[in-house]
Amino acid sequence: MARVDRERRRWWDGAVDFEQMWRDLEPLGRSASSGGYFRQPFGSAERECTAWFHEQAAARGLDVAADGNGNLVAWWRVPDARHPATVTGSHLDSVLDGGAYDGPLGVVSAFAAVDLMRERGFEPATSIGVSAFVEEEGSRFGIACLGSRLLSGQLSPDQARELRDRDGVFLQDAMEQAGLEPSLGPSTLLDGVSCFLELHVEQGRDLVDRDVPVGVASAIWPHGRYRFDLAGEANHAGTTRMEDRHDPMLTYAMTVLAANKQARVAGQRATFGRVEVRPNGTNAVPSAVTAWLDARAESTERLQALVADVERLATERAGRDGTTVEVTVESQSPEVAFDEDLAGRLAGLGPWPVIPTMAGHDAGVLASSGLRSGMLFVRNPTGVSHSPAEHAGTADCLAGVEALADALQGIAGGFLPDDSGGER
Ligand code: HGY
Ligand code: MN
Ligand code: MN
Repeated sequence: MARVDRERRRWWDGAVDFEQMWRDLEPLGRSASSGGYFRQPFGSAERECTAWFHEQAAARGLDVAADGNGNLVAWWRVPDARHPATVTGSHLDSVLDGGAYDGPLGVVSAFAAVDLMRERGFEPATSIGVSAFVEEEGSRFGIACLGSRLLSGQLSPDQARELRDRDGVFLQDAMEQAGLEPSLGPSTLLDGVSCFLELHVEQGRDLVDRDVPVGVASAIWPHGRYRFDLAGEANHAGTTRMEDRHDPMLTYAMTVLAANKQARVAGQRATFGRVEVRPNGTNAVPSAVTAWLDARAESTERLQALVADVERLATERAGRDGTTVEVTVESQSPEVAFDEDLAGRLAGLGPWPVIPTMAGHDAGVLASSGLRSGMLFVRNPTGVSHSPAEHAGTADCLAGVEALADALQGIAGGFLPDDSGGER
């Protein structure tokens, strides 16, 4: 439970409270063997994390609003606020065998920033919300930032209703099995909100190389996920001569090599991290291979060119192997340039460096929907993410909380021009 001790009239006790929240979350969904996290949306571990979210909100007297997509906002409400609200938060779900910080650091820091602002005696002129959006990683239903896309109307309810996980469970069924009453689609959860801030562990080494604990996001590279369905001819691993085979695994292997070379030469990103082989037997040439390409580039045009090149090379290889290739776009995220004025003001609080990222975030989806959004990054000494090796030191995390509290006080106290363009 959060250590919020009203008797001591203290709200924020620095590392003590931060590390307490961290200890609460630490065991939820953690693999004993790898130390990585399996917090897939609407699964038991992720639901324990959302129960933790409700506990933290209740301990601070914040009332939690939920939408039909499973997204949550815990409100520090200011009655009769004269200006639109500000929300800060991130996500609680993880990739498979993920790190502890990707997502949860933004939610823990948001609660901690509320405590710190209260400790400072700050009284906001606008309501402040702490958010947790569902399925940011797309690790169960395949669409990145599913919750924020549905909320902002960037994914239709019909498309979402078609989504199934690897066991064939539909999204809505998974939500109902978790005790929710799904009502997928645009929601009013962020109505009246004029600014969203997401604090996130850096997924790279830029802040390490600059030797600073906090950074500000300038942009997110466009990126997408593309399913490659390769079909061949099942046959005997022993009696089938090599030259007589139509082996989709060979086409797949050559496609992975081609994608890696294309991206490496262009300074872009191409990853085949997930593959399914049928029938997946040891002594049989497979009949089919399905593989997913995660591609990222500095512009939408360059991304499209990269994916087209990989598809062309796969098709050429398939022609030689006597196999077939079909490519399906599963999830695409456009280039995001964050609000420059907000990024500049956030940077001025440090001063903090303003840096681009190749990782997608809910803040990017909300920025694409027209909501003024910004991101703060916290140094990750390993630079590694989507892995149990992901890390952020407590001192840097506390620097992140301070920066977030400063930013929220600035925004909720009026350092941003309000929607009418005047200073608050
Ligand atoms: O995949 C990403 O870029 C993010 O971590 N969801
Ligand atoms: Mn994330
Ligand atoms: Mn992630």
